[in-house]
Amino acid sequence: MGAIVTGYAYVRPDGKPSEGALGMYDDSFLDDYRALVDAVHARGASIVLQLVYGGSKSKLGPDDPRRQLPHAGILGASPVEHPKTHLVPREASPHELVELARAFGAAAARAKACGFDGVEVHVAHGYLLSQFLSPLFNERSDEYGGDLRNRARLAVECIRAVRAAVGEEYPVLAKVNSCDDAGDPTGAKGGLGEEESAQVCGWLVEAGASCIEVTGDWHAASSRAQDGEPYFARFGARVARRLDVPVIVTGGWRDYDVIEAHLANDGIAAVGMSRPLICEPDLLARWKSGDMRPSICIACGACQKSPGIPCPLRNA
Ligand SMILES: Cc1cc2nc3c(=O)[nH]c(=O)nc-3n(C[C@H](O)[C@H](O)[C@H](O)COP(=O)(O)O)c2cc1C
Repeated sequence: MGAIVTGYAYVRPDGKPSEGALGMYDDSFLDDYRALVDAVHARGASIVLQLVYGGSKSKLGPDDPRRQLPHAGILGASPVEHPKTHLVPREASPHELVELARAFGAAAARAKACGFDGVEVHVAHGYLLSQFLSPLFNERSDEYGGDLRNRARLAVECIRAVRAAVGEEYPVLAKVNSCDDAGDPTGAKGGLGEEESAQVCGWLVEAGASCIEVTGDWHAASSRAQDGEPYFARFGARVARRLDVPVIVTGGWRDYDVIEAHLANDGIAAVGMSRPLICEPDLLARWKSGDMRPSICIACGACQKSPGIPCPLRNA
């Protein structure tokens, strides 16, 4: 059994992470999402909506109205310049962070009302909630900064708000980096390390997450990994051992036998795949039909760089 997790949908207009991103910040989207969900359900699949606040990693398009605003109107843990976008966010007040958690809850309630089968809170990939976890971006000395408990407070409060909004039974996933985007598993370079991230996963479950999706700095991992080698399997197995909720591990899965071996041995519930399905949308049907050749995706990056998610190998 599987499910589709959508691309990120931003929970407030100031949290738009990129041009063309999905939004879920008010009720104007509901009819379109209902149509999407119905179409997916009609084909027998499940679909989960991912929720995000972009923060200083956001890529602003040329006409983005936030360009006119001080700090681009973007909230951050601390006014630290982002190394790629060069945006310097405004340090959010504790009150604004409470409001932000409410916005995650409201977006989740909308998703549930549209018929989505679950929601996923994006606590990864350098967007705002993962920045709070990392001392490289979070220099606060209030209750949202300093020790790990405090740095995890915003993510925990967002999960709590989402859980309160959707009720006890509804699937709430959290997507978490193995370590932060500095790609340093030990945390020795000052970022979030794997042991800290594993602890955060536990707190997110206590706060109401019913499933953890493990990810990480997949751009860097893509260029390092050998063919067919999953990027975060070791960390995923470690988290799965500690938690009593399902753990999904995403990134680098290309070979059915490798997937099957990890599912059998690592205690993980599922794997997540992105680029192989952009490259070969019928990959799972192909494997199901008995054609077990690995994915032809070579992680060339074309699908990330241009609008329209092009792939030089699709239908090649
Ligand atoms: C075009 C594209 C868009 C993506 N959008 C998102 C996103 O919205 N949210 C997210 O959590 N990950 C996103 N990712 C990252 C994937 O979920 C996944 O973590 C990454 O591609 C590594 O997995 P893979 O090796 O199976 O591609 C995106 C990846 C690509 C290539």
